[in-house]
Amino acid sequence: MFKRSLSNTTKKMVASNLIEANSFQVTTYARPENLCFTRGKNAILFDDINNKQYIDFTAGIAVTGLGHSNPEVAEVISKQALKLVHSSNLYYNEECLKLSEKLIEKTIQFDGQSDATKVFLCNSGTEANEAALKFAKKHGIIKNPKKQGIIAFENSFHGRTMGALSATWGIKYRVPFGDLVPHFKFLNINDELGKLQAYIEQNASEIAGLIIEPIQGEGGIFPIPTEKLIGLKKICHDNDIIVIYDEIQCGLGRSGKLWAHSYLPKEAHPDIFTSAKALGNGFPIGATIINDKVNNALQVGDHGTTYGGNPLGSAVSNYVVDVIADQKFLDHVNEKSKIFVSFLKSLQEKYPNQIKDVRGKGLILGVEFAESPASIVVKARELGLLIITAGKTTVRFVPALTIEDDIAQKGLEIFEQAVKEVLN
Ligand SMILES: Cc1ncc(COP(=O)(O)O)c(C=O)c1O
Repeated sequence: MFKRSLSNTTKKMVASNLIEANSFQVTTYARPENLCFTRGKNAILFDDINNKQYIDFTAGIAVTGLGHSNPEVAEVISKQALKLVHSSNLYYNEECLKLSEKLIEKTIQFDGQSDATKVFLCNSGTEANEAALKFAKKHGIIKNPKKQGIIAFENSFHGRTMGALSATWGIKYRVPFGDLVPHFKFLNINDELGKLQAYIEQNASEIAGLIIEPIQGEGGIFPIPTEKLIGLKKICHDNDIIVIYDEIQCGLGRSGKLWAHSYLPKEAHPDIFTSAKALGNGFPIGATIINDKVNNALQVGDHGTTYGGNPLGSAVSNYVVDVIADQKFLDHVNEKSKIFVSFLKSLQEKYPNQIKDVRGKGLILGVEFAESPASIVVKARELGLLIITAGKTTVRFVPALTIEDDIAQKGLEIFEQAVKEVLN
């Protein structure tokens, strides 16, 4: 009876022939063979098809901050789905209004001071950045039609749509797609601040905005030094250039504060910042949060999206933000961070020639190896741990912020075992 109701896809999956089951998917992803997750519980993922389970230090690429299949999130989804899923941006909806107010209030509370005043809701990280770039360009163009360039940084990742992609450093992401959006310029954050400022000042009449991740994620987990962010904000402020912080990966508690920029003094806070990933704990949602300077440049009709701010996504994010924007929750993140950092630093001491650096903040951490750690990732998976790389030589640790201490410890021990087996 059960067997008769199986689809062809499921039959192939049960037979562990995932390559065949995958033959109808566009070939844009490289995936390990014979690994297919069927359920999750906080920081554990289960592959019931192959009867295996894994400790997950990837959290869906820094998405499931509150863990896989969080029962409270599931309850919010099911209650809201029975009430109202979507009504469009033709009309107001309560959850969207509540979420916008909450994001501003919590930002003011956790940043100490903030001039963030308005929120644009969308459905993903790349869309949140797309809105940010458009808003910055509009602000510039109003002043001077030539003031429409965007400064981005080497090692950045901002998304895959044409605007966000134009600000993304990796050549492999950009080059296959020919001409992208014009007037994007990449600077190297490791250059002296004076040099960066001089370039921006000299070209200010043609620069609308600057976009940067306060902690670069995909590029290799590089926290940007505070003095650099203060100096960049100052030169941009003095030259009427909009500063955008991409907090899609490093925001919402991941750094140990509500936002990664919450560590910074007020003078380095952004004009726009973007959030996504953890904002929906896996439900697709993104947000672009702006100040009045940016908002004053916008008019009805300038931007929009059918799904953005829908009641279902907004209800999930209302729950997520309530949980994460709580000092006790953030204190726990910092406690868990200590478990990871002390273990990884002592591992570095055991392998001083092969492990070059342990860096990051909160639960966005990177271990940089002297060579590509790709085989360590594969070995860890064989041993029951999921990790991902960032940049060419770094392993990234972005587990659920709610990971249990003993699961974290067990996963770290598996990581050490993988390092040992590969390096020895
Ligand atoms: C910093 C940063 N910005 C933007 C994005 C794009 O987000 P999405 O994949 O939701 O479009 C990502 C995704 O990895 C990211 O890490």
